[in-house]
Amino acid sequence: MKTILITWWTGYIGSHAVVAFEQAGYKTVIVDNLSNSSTKTIDGIEKIIWYRPDFFEVDLRDKKKLEDVFRKYDFDWVVHFAWLKAVWKSCDKPLEYFDNNLVWSLKLFELMKDYWVKNIIFSSSATVYTSPQPSPLKEKEQVQSWIKEDFVTWNTTNPYWTTKFLLEQILTDLSKFADFNVINLRYFNPIWAHESWYIGEDPEGIPNNLLPYIMKVATWELEKLKVFWDDYDTVDGTWVRDYIDVVDLIDGHLKAYELLENLDFSWFVDNFNLWVGRGISVLEMVEAAKKVTLKDITYEIAPRREWDLGEVYCNPNKAKSILDWEAKISLENSMRNSWRFYNK
Ligand code: NAD
Ligand code: WQD
Repeated sequence: MKTILITWWTGYIGSHAVVAFEQAGYKTVIVDNLSNSSTKTIDGIEKIIWYRPDFFEVDLRDKKKLEDVFRKYDFDWVVHFAWLKAVWKSCDKPLEYFDNNLVWSLKLFELMKDYWVKNIIFSSSATVYTSPQPSPLKEKEQVQSWIKEDFVTWNTTNPYWTTKFLLEQILTDLSKFADFNVINLRYFNPIWAHESWYIGEDPEGIPNNLLPYIMKVATWELEKLKVFWDDYDTVDGTWVRDYIDVVDLIDGHLKAYELLENLDFSWFVDNFNLWVGRGISVLEMVEAAKKVTLKDITYEIAPRREWDLGEVYCNPNKAKSILDWEAKISLENSMRNSWRFYNK
């Protein structure tokens, strides 16, 4: 049986990946430092798959503890999710983000090389694309680059986005010079909850992202939603995103796994957008939530966030044709699962 190391599972997307890969017949081994999640996710996963996958509470910066895990298993694969992802925190603590997201990733890659684990799927992001540029974005779009002005700089707007872009570059070099097989999966707004309602996006504290915030207003845990500005050139003046059901998203990871598994050579690297391919505004999300929850989602217009992008959604056709993947779950069905998870 193929054994897959999933860096971080007790977080949101990774927990869904564990369920999907285990149900597809693969053995997953999970490491997480529980910095933005809790072990209650383990209980939810056990209710879905009827057993607890092997879990190690490891901070990936602790290379010795991580190597103990590599010694214990003969890994075929790594699916690399673990990341500090709060954009505003990355602006406040850039060195912590570079250390956590880049330095320990390098320790992970050193162990992969030492233990002949050459296949990796990286949870990347549409933030690697330069901004602003018109949507829908395609994989060949200009990714972040040095721009010659009075000083050379990346045109990312925060350290979190820089770490995503830099790791893609590092993995591209590792595919050329260390025979890694690499797939970067670029997504932006995964949301919702598993159909079982046992697991879903449940961040500690005040949510950064839109959907969990809306759901906590619907359950009266939070008083009202702040809509970050409403005078943009969109259908109703609010920002547009391409929200994708996390179960569809993880199905894309399984398809990427199958592509790499069928490779008969190394040094492969490719990038795929995993998106629905349509834009939904903030107020359209609020209306969709009202329809499903039958609650009044109170909101007020607030100033924009300095890092906010305008209209962002991508063209998923490359994943459709090469990975034989496309998003299938409707917004209403996803919103209903999410509401059941938050309101249980
Ligand atoms: P999450 O915060 O729910 O999960 C991240 C997990 O990583 C947490 O469980 C945390 O404890 C763990 N972690 C962080 N640093 C660690 C370390 N040094 N050692 C061990 N574990 C560590 O995040 P998520 O929303 O599930 O995102 C998962 C991945 O998907 C991340 O790489 C993120 O950048 C990427 N992504 C997320 C979104 C989104 O909107 N959620 C969009 C695009 C890409
Ligand atoms: C969605 C929309 C907000 C909250 C972030 C990260 C990005 C990526 C995905 C990893 C935006 C609006 C939100 C609120 C609001 N992560 N909003 N009030 O900003 O698209 O991207 O997650 O790659 O790195 O920046 O996601 O869910 O925060 O916001 O009006 O309380 O909802 O302006 O237009 P975003 P989000």
